[in-house]
Amino acid sequence: MLSKKVEKALNDQIALEADASQFYLAMASWTECEGYEGISEFLYEQADEERMHMLKLLRFVNERGGKAIIAKVSAPPKSFSSVKKVFDNLLTHEMKVTEHINKLVYLCLQEKDYTTHNFLQWYVSEQIEEEGLARTLNDKLKLIGSDKSGLYMFDRDIQKLRSQVAKPE
Ligand code: FEO
Repeated sequence: MLSKKVEKALNDQIALEADASQFYLAMASWTECEGYEGISEFLYEQADEERMHMLKLLRFVNERGGKAIIAKVSAPPKSFSSVKKVFDNLLTHEMKVTEHINKLVYLCLQEKDYTTHNFLQWYVSEQIEEEGLARTLNDKLKLIGSDKSGLYMFDRDIQKLRSQVAKPE
């Protein structure tokens, strides 16, 4: 059984993952309209992943006798000033998620909820990977700067970059 504190923190995390999914969806749609096919594909997949993170938490809360709350998601921006800005947003979001996961893990230890603590280890590893990928992509974009052909190649190679950074399962 979940304590009220852990249940509330898990529900906050559900809302955060849903917000991330919606935000990435907005970035996917914007980059698609701007003609960045590879980047938008990558972001559509990231948006799906965040939804999967949200669902996994939601099912866990219900399974453990709590009640998952489907919160309202905030409206993401309609447009972005540049591709670099999109990836800055991605990194900022991932850092925020990591911080929240870490707080959640700490709360589980305080509450002696070792089941939820164990469940959250998957998120801890996932965040190392996602934050690492967001950092790598930002570093590449910093190197590219305003070079249009560099950005063209970044758009073409982004999935390859993802598989290079992602750890094997
Ligand atoms: Fe679910 Fe990328 O944090």
